[in-house]
Order: sequence, then structure tokens, then C-alpha cells
Amino acid sequence: MKIFAGSSNPVMAAKIAEYLNTRVCDSQLKRFSDGELWFKYNENIRGCDIFLVQSTHPPAEHLMELLIMIDAARRASARRITAVMPYFGYARQDRKDQPRVAITAKLVADLLIAAGVDRILTMDLHAAQIQGFFNLPVDHLYASAIFMDYYRTKLIPDLVVVAPDVGSIKMARAYSEYLGAPLAIVDKRRPTQNVAQVMNVIGDVAGRNVLMIDDLIDTGGSLTGAAETLRERGSGDIYAACTHGVLSGGALEKIEKSPIVEMALTDSIPLRPDQQSDKIKVLTASQLFGESIRRIHYEESISSLFVDHR
Ligand code: R5P
Repeated sequence: MKIFAGSSNPVMAAKIAEYLNTRVCDSQLKRFSDGELWFKYNENIRGCDIFLVQSTHPPAEHLMELLIMIDAARRASARRITAVMPYFGYARQDRKDQPRVAITAKLVADLLIAAGVDRILTMDLHAAQIQGFFNLPVDHLYASAIFMDYYRTKLIPDLVVVAPDVGSIKMARAYSEYLGAPLAIVDKRRPTQNVAQVMNVIGDVAGRNVLMIDDLIDTGGSLTGAAETLRERGSGDIYAACTHGVLSGGALEKIEKSPIVEMALTDSIPLRPDQQSDKIKVLTASQLFGESIRRIHYEESISSLFVDHR
């Protein structure tokens, strides 16, 4: 087994390797003068079971780098190539929701397959059905295994779990059952990309502390808009948990100004130095990935990691 890190999330790759009592193996990434990428494995990988850790958040060069790593591994006769993608980018365009648009999640799957990947290990895909865009094994991890334990020990009283949109109801319901808290739903509309409008809140939030659950926070419009509406409806403290902190376009400022008291994220996308905030709590998913890699290598069950957490 060999672990290699792309440039998008080297800290997480190092933590994964540490969990596995190993090291991140030696590789080299360079740029030509025009910006094109050049990658080389600096050690023999012939016949190895290799795991390439690379989240594919913007810029799209992170994806290009992963494709180049896969291609190089295939040409170097690696026995099995697993793309470990803590964050799977371009997943939100997962269907033709209007005429003449692309399905980028399928396009990314096709690119990975064309490059020669053998299997995918990822976490909280925007839509679980994206697994079906691959005709090869996809191991899909749930960050709920991390967040649920965190909130169980936090013991927030009078809690209501809130799904900030229809897409997150299933995930929020699992939390509500696990934490023994009622469920409420925010009816959100998107008049256009990156604009979120809260229409209604279904369920009782008055006088209750809130935990909102979403797969990702991008501009922050959905969660901060929902938080303001919940506060208008008389909620208590508002907590939020999102697996992937994309955090673009002034998201940090919105979180800072919002009634959200704490926003928990995983480290699937590393925070930049200018993205530090007292309201953000980062929980690492490296042990979850490390354990999953160990189980893939030794052909053990991964689903048994999630018996208590859906
Ligand atoms: C939408 O379906 C997702 O689950 C997120 O709610 C959404 O992508 C978050 O985007 P933003 O933070 O820009 O509102």
C-alpha cells in the first residue's frame, strides 16, 4: 500500500498516512513556464496498491492534477489505483435541470475512468446517485460518523435539527433520530445560481436551539439566510454542520455577521489562512479516510464503519 498526496490537501494526506503508521510517498509536481503541470512518482509503484489523496475543489487544476497522477500511475504499472477524493468537485451539476446544460458530475466520472482509475473513495457526494456514474467501485463515506459523535457529546439542550433545504432532509432526519431531537425543514428556492431564498419553515423552532445540517457551504447564502429566518421565528442558539467548506464569495463575512454561533466543517477542503474565524470549528475526517483505506487494502467491510450513523 502506498499513499500519495496531490497539492490540494497535503495536510489531510499526511494525517491519513499517520493514521496508517506510514508516510506520504515521494512524488514531484512541477509547472512548465506556461503553467502546465508535470508530475512524477519518485519511487517504484509497480504492482502496488496506491491511494492518491486529492480533493477537487476549485481551481479545476486540482482535477487535472489528479488525472495526471492516475495516468502516471497506470503507465508505471501500479496494481490498483484508488482516487481518494475527500471533496468531489463539480458534483452539484448532477442532472439536466434545464435545456442545453452539462452534467459535470458525469463528465468528471468519465474523465477519471478514462485516465485509468480503479476505484473511488469519497465522502458525502452532493447526490449519492453520482456513484452510479462510475462502472467501478465507489466507497462513499458519511461525515455524520464524525459530526454525530461531536454533537452527542456537546449535549445541546432543547435541540431541533433543521434541514436547510429539501435535498438535505434525509441527512438531517438521520441526525434527528440519532440525537433524539425533532426535525424541521426550510423551504428554500434558488431563483438563480448562488442565490438562495427562504420561503418557509416547516416545523417548530421557537425557543429551541438549532442544528442545521448540509453537505456543503459555498457562498453561505443558504445557511445564513436560513439562520436569519430561524432567528426571526424565535429560535435559540444556531449551530451548523457542513461536510465541505467551499467558502467562496464572501461566505466568511456572511457567517461572521449571521446568528450562527458555530459552524462545524470537516477538513475535506483546507481552510486558507484568510479563512480563519472563531465561529468555524474544523473536525478532521483523516481517521475515517485512513481506516477506510486500511479496510480497502485488506478487503474488509467499510459499511460496518457506519452501523450507528447513516
Ligand atoms: C445545495 O443543494 C447544497 O446542499 C448547499 O445547500 C448549497 O450548495 C450551498 O450553497 P451556498 O452556500 O452558496 O448557498
